[in-house]
Amino acid sequence: MVTRMRTTFLLLLALGLLSGCSFNERVDAILELTPDAANGAVIWGADCERCHGADGRGNDLGPNLISELHHGDKQFLTWILDGLGDEMPAFPDYTDQEAADVLEHIHVLAE
Ligand code: HEC
Repeated sequence: MVTRMRTTFLLLLALGLLSGCSFNERVDAILELTPDAANGAVIWGADCERCHGADGRGNDLGPNLISELHHGDKQFLTWILDGLGDEMPAFPDYTDQEAADVLEHIHVLAE
């Protein structure tokens, strides 16, 4: 009985680690949404522009995001929600829709 409980615990732990290791678990749900690019532009202006530039090509405070889009939407959303390194702040309080919207705006800027 104790052994079985321990096995179950270890299995759950392994599952948790596996699912948590690469991408934020919210990301799949966010990618299912229909983004609102206009709202994404508003969020961009408020939260991102000062470091990544009005055109998304970066400035002194942050890198060009357009040339980094090859990392893919899942990776981008994870960085936006969780932050990256010491300089890129996390935005964990975005609703799923807000995250989808701001990601969409980066794609619009890339066009
Ligand atoms: C205070 C400045 C700052 C703000 C505000 C900011 N960023 Fe960043 N961002 C950075 C810096 C600096 C990096 C590079 C971090 C690193 O590589 O260690 C970065 C990296 C990123 C990356 C990863 C790109 C890559 O390949 O390195 C994404 C995606 C990103 N930011 C999106 C956003 C979005 C979207 C917003 C607004 C919601 C935002 N950032 C707001 C400074 C900022």
